[in-house]
Amino acid sequence: MTIFVTGGAGFIGSEFIRQGIAAGHRIVNFDKLTYAGNLENLVSIAANPRYAQRYAMIRGDVCDAAAVSDSLPEACDAVVHFAAESHVDRSILSAEEFVRTNVLGTQVMLDIARHKHAGRFLHISTDEVGGDMEPEEWFREDSPLEPSSPYAASKTAAEHFVRAAAHTFGIDTIVTRTSNNYGPYQFPEKLLPLAISNAMEDRPIPVYGDGMQIRDWVHVADNCRALFAVLEHGKAGETYHIGGGDPKPNIEVLHLLLKIMDKPESLLTRVTDRLGHDRRYAVHFGKITAELGWHPEIPFETGLADTVQWYRDNAEWVRHCRSGEYREYYEKMYGAAV
Ligand code: NAD
Ligand code: DAU
Repeated sequence: MTIFVTGGAGFIGSEFIRQGIAAGHRIVNFDKLTYAGNLENLVSIAANPRYAQRYAMIRGDVCDAAAVSDSLPEACDAVVHFAAESHVDRSILSAEEFVRTNVLGTQVMLDIARHKHAGRFLHISTDEVGGDMEPEEWFREDSPLEPSSPYAASKTAAEHFVRAAAHTFGIDTIVTRTSNNYGPYQFPEKLLPLAISNAMEDRPIPVYGDGMQIRDWVHVADNCRALFAVLEHGKAGETYHIGGGDPKPNIEVLHLLLKIMDKPESLLTRVTDRLGHDRRYAVHFGKITAELGWHPEIPFETGLADTVQWYRDNAEWVRHCRSGEYREYYEKMYGAAV
């Protein structure tokens, strides 16, 4: 397939591209390279001459209709739309960029994909659109959408535009809603990469509130396997949930992490809670298992230990994230400032 990926320089998009190129697909990566876009995530692809015919990077904004239209290949089998502002804490500080990229950007992508007759439109959404779950409650594909944070509200609005485009124009869309991803190449602002990289330097790990908020962790490699399964075999117009199946309180996850890293629990530092912090996410993913045979393969403890090892082996990558040096990569690699 020829796949147009938006946001492919981010955490999940770059894993999707690594898997897609390994599977023989042709991929155009369209990314604005915000603070979250890191081309060092794709060195193994971009710097390998074997992939030069099958991988291209274009720097551009999903809100820029002309740029998207110029970049989308004529014979495009699928659009996979990852590009988004993705960090809840940033959306609480200011929601403006979240509305622009996540809502307007999705509408622009849908319009251009339709005008250019691109194939399937796979929209990457989140379990956060369901909002806070009661104890024992599971978020299903047909559960109500009750977003709590500005980030989740913007992702919910985006989903509505996808649904409207499918209904109104008959385009082939699929929505996936994934729980918390973890794994290599995650920018050290989200809980696990922040905790790992702080612990590596014996720095405090911030625990929001009582640390009893429950999240469901899925390894990014498992998530991207699910995305390919949906892209290739999912039913048009459907929504599929993807999760790890074992929701845990943050504090339990952090205790496990410190045990794996052989670091003291005294690193855990209680800080003021996130505003409007959802207490529990728990995504039910029985549908994708029943229809497409997908289930998570990487047990959390193994995946977490491997992730820790990756961060230890890639201390230079972490250092570049923290110093901002990763942002110089575009010019180094492609030779021109945009
Ligand atoms: P990320 O923040 O690591 O990467 C986002 C990417 O989008 C970056 O490369 C950034 O440069 C790019 N981008 C941002 N604004 C853009 C714009 N206007 N135009 C073009 N590119 C732009 O995000 P992630 O964690 O990889 O998440 C990817 C997608 O998956 C997002 O849609 C997110 O909502 C969703 N999601 C993430 C998780 C998770 O746990 N990380 C879970 C569920 C769903
Ligand atoms: O559920 C899917 C979502 O998971 C995605 O849609 C988002 O893009 C992604 O960022 C993630 O959102 P969360 O808010 O759940 O992830 P984050 O890593 O920011 O926080 C995970 C939990 O840890 C959450 O309960 C807040 C808490 N936390 C977070 C940070 C950064 C802390 O206790 N300390 C921290 O320093």
